[in-house]
Amino acid sequence: MICTPLHGRVYEAITGFEAHLQGELRASTSWGTLYHAEPQDVFWYQNIWLKPFQVEFTSISEAVSVLRGIQRNWWPVLFTQFRRGALIRSQLPPLALKPRRFPWLLPDASMGGWTLLDAHTMVASASCSSPFPGGLIEFEEDKWGPPSRAYLKLWEALVHCRNWPGPGERCLDAGASPGGWTWALARLGADIMAVDRAPLDERVQAMPGVRFVSHDAFTLKPEDLGPLDWLFCDVICYPPRLYDWIEKWLASGLCTNFICTIKMQGMPDHETTRRFAAIPGSTVVHLHHNKHELTWMKVAPRATILPGPLS
Ligand SMILES: C[S@@+](CC[C@H](N)C(=O)[O-])C[C@H]1O[C@@H](n2cnc3c(N)ncnc32)[C@H](O)[C@@H]1O
Repeated sequence: MICTPLHGRVYEAITGFEAHLQGELRASTSWGTLYHAEPQDVFWYQNIWLKPFQVEFTSISEAVSVLRGIQRNWWPVLFTQFRRGALIRSQLPPLALKPRRFPWLLPDASMGGWTLLDAHTMVASASCSSPFPGGLIEFEEDKWGPPSRAYLKLWEALVHCRNWPGPGERCLDAGASPGGWTWALARLGADIMAVDRAPLDERVQAMPGVRFVSHDAFTLKPEDLGPLDWLFCDVICYPPRLYDWIEKWLASGLCTNFICTIKMQGMPDHETTRRFAAIPGSTVVHLHHNKHELTWMKVAPRATILPGPLS
């Protein structure tokens, strides 16, 4: 068995947005939906394999023992050798893949990725950008409470950040209608000002802690609203408009945590995405529940999490 570190990284494309990654990335090699390339600032990926290595192996058990010898958690991304891949997978520890109930505190354990290039060559990485298997995460959905499914991307962002609003924390939910995000925040016991030009679902508006304001979110100034623990924004707008508004909030120092959707209209706006990503302490990712949009998150780590009243 020969194990060799590979330079660079392996980028996994998002199904349906392969062309976006191809447009951003200068890749040297592709293996199915995986692209081997030098480290680059790109955003339209499902997962990045941060420390790839190549293994020449003779038997299934040898491939398994290499992976098991490094860590417990491994997720396959196969584009060839499916049968051999399934045999290797069956001998690795199982991963908990069933839909999860929000909220839960994501463990720190690394989630690795691996693929087969041919019957005797594997590429793998023990550390990946996403804490979820292959960047995928499903939740136990609530089919009755929320008026839209948009709450799923908010749940994913909060789990990813290992932090979420606790009871009584002051939140602004901009572009709140029909109310999926406000519903999710109200269930955590937060105090929410929901702003939209369209109406909020009546049942969400009646939840404890929810106050609805019919307004253009971008004309609300930080000094008029006062200190916030969290600013959420899911407004449909051109990315530079969102950036200009967020800049004002950052300059004011009046808000601690931010989670905002950067909605793309037509071609992705790489320039504004890079400006968001350059904001210190923040990150831009494509969440599993994002569509033609990215999520900008600037969230302080929290040591202790109170799950909040969810019943
Ligand atoms: C994708 S929807 C939000 C969905 C919502 N987060 C949920 O969970 O149900 C985008 C919303 O942005 C609102 N919107 C667009 N421009 C706005 C603005 N300037 N100020 C406030 N809301 C705006 C739209 O009315 C629409 O309701």
